[in-house]
Amino acid sequence: MEEMIPVLSGSEIAQKVKALSHQISKDYAEKDLCIIGVLNGVFVFLADLVRELTIPVQIDFVRVVSYGSGTVSSGNVQITKEIELDVKDRDVLIVEDIVDSGLTIAFLLEYLKRFHPKSVKVCAFVDKTERRQVEVPIDYVGHVVESGFLIGYGLDLDQKYREVPGIYRLKL
Ligand code: IMP
Ligand code: MG
Repeated sequence: MEEMIPVLSGSEIAQKVKALSHQISKDYAEKDLCIIGVLNGVFVFLADLVRELTIPVQIDFVRVVSYGSGTVSSGNVQITKEIELDVKDRDVLIVEDIVDSGLTIAFLLEYLKRFHPKSVKVCAFVDKTERRQVEVPIDYVGHVVESGFLIGYGLDLDQKYREVPGIYRLKL
């Protein structure tokens, strides 16, 4: 088993999620919020985030693949599950577990344009800055790290470790 270095505990995560939810509730108080979660990694964060919201919301998911089973983006982002919610003229918030190269978010911002939403913003629990390849706006960020491969709180290595309550850096 790989060595795991603690990054955020479950209770530190809970505090950060609460702060994000409160800010989103405030910013979208008079709006028509549609949350689009990016599967698979986001399922844990999204479940926590939406339960702290104090405003009504509709939720849908997209699924994209860019990683093979390694730890570096293949750069080739493909959609494997489309959105089903009608987001035309509505306020969309894309929710991601982690932004790394930025290619997934750049792809999704382009993809969503064809459905003519009123606005699109991005929320990521982790902003990992060092390997960014395209500048993407991240409007709501839970935690910033420079580098490293993280697991836990939905984040996986080859579909493993998603169930771990805290976030750890893997010593690979
Ligand atoms: P990007 O397209 O390179 O920004 O990568 C986005 C996707 O890569 C995320 O949704 C994650 O699934 C995956 N990813 C990037 N960095 C990590 C990490 O440190 N741990 C686990 N998954 C990661
Ligand atoms: Mg992911």
